[in-house]
Amino acid sequence: MIFANLDKLPPDPILGVTAAFRADPSPDKIDLGVGVYRDDAGNTPVPAAVRDAERALLDVQTTKTYVGPMGNAEFNQRIVELALGPLAAGLEDRTATIHTVGGCGALRVGAELIRASWPDAIVNVSDPTWANHEPLLGSAGVALARYPYYDAASRGVAFERMLEHFGRLPSGSIVLLHACCHNPTGADLDAGQWSALAEVIENRGLVPFLDLAYQGFGDDLESDVLGLRLLAARVPQLLLALSCSKNFGLYRERTGALAVIAGNAATAAAIATHQARTARRMYSMPPDHGAAVAARLLGDPALRAAWASELAGMVSRMKALRELLAGHFAARRPDRDFSWLTRHRGMFSLAGLDSTAIGELRSTHHVYVPPDGRINIAGVSEANVDRVADSIVAVLD
Ligand SMILES: Cc1ncc(COP(=O)(O)O)c(C=O)c1O
Repeated sequence: MIFANLDKLPPDPILGVTAAFRADPSPDKIDLGVGVYRDDAGNTPVPAAVRDAERALLDVQTTKTYVGPMGNAEFNQRIVELALGPLAAGLEDRTATIHTVGGCGALRVGAELIRASWPDAIVNVSDPTWANHEPLLGSAGVALARYPYYDAASRGVAFERMLEHFGRLPSGSIVLLHACCHNPTGADLDAGQWSALAEVIENRGLVPFLDLAYQGFGDDLESDVLGLRLLAARVPQLLLALSCSKNFGLYRERTGALAVIAGNAATAAAIATHQARTARRMYSMPPDHGAAVAARLLGDPALRAAWASELAGMVSRMKALRELLAGHFAARRPDRDFSWLTRHRGMFSLAGLDSTAIGELRSTHHVYVPPDGRINIAGVSEANVDRVADSIVAVLD
């Protein structure tokens, strides 16, 4: 009975909300918990350009033989180019990229590399951060710490405290940064803050580990990577976890990459061998389909332009929903400030809900949010915005 000593675990903080939502028979239930984009009909679409790329791929693909631990080489090159833009070519010799099992795989391979290379390293994550960051990185055996990030009063970034904290971190500390669309807070750094942060990171010899899971979901494909590019141009070493789940709508294809920019070409070549070995020992090779689709799309100017404009449509929908919801809140509670909703970027915002409010939302109003109080703006629609606003206002203190 080798498994008899295993107790049943509590549900995953985010996936558990989806399960509870599904089990609720109420016809009025609303899911603001799930971490996926939704259109006005509540669907999570595959962008038309991605479907076109997929069709074109099926016509020419003649084999499904193994791709190897580093995955799809064309994808690796194109996805790093998408993130780094004109910097990619100049950094190519110093960059080791492995195609991974989604952004989660990229984060995990990154953590494994850090631990193998420097067992005493501490990875500092924002307070708060995405609920899966600490489990993903921590289970690779790296030590974790938190840095101040969110100011609950202003619902913005506690930038002075963050900067001061970074200024005290020992040289070589790793700092995990959300490149854009901070999950769960929605509060992002502005251009001036990125620049001040880059200076401290460079001066203190910190190592940035950027998590780019939402390129194109904040403002646009270029603006969302401004901070990343600023850092990549400046610091000698950087890790970058990329995900194609949200912006390509490739969630279940598990498509991502880990790019590591090293101090020189020889180190980058060594890192690549460790990336391959890490993958081989954990899952051997990544699934190819999503990466092949993304590579095909990025290599075709017409498909790429069509995709960028679909993404722009999703962004303007999310921004319009933010305006709509903020207006509904303000109409109900003119004594309170809800302008943070329109300042936030991406799908998420922390709405200032404590555990009692979250419980009441679920039991009384059939509105589902995860334990950290994160709301997914894309779960709001013209049809449910009144109910969402009424329910949240009813549970606010
Ligand atoms: C901040 C952040 N990083 C990484 C990921 C990983 O994405 P995936 O593994 O689905 O590509 C997510 C997904 O929700 C995320 O929100």
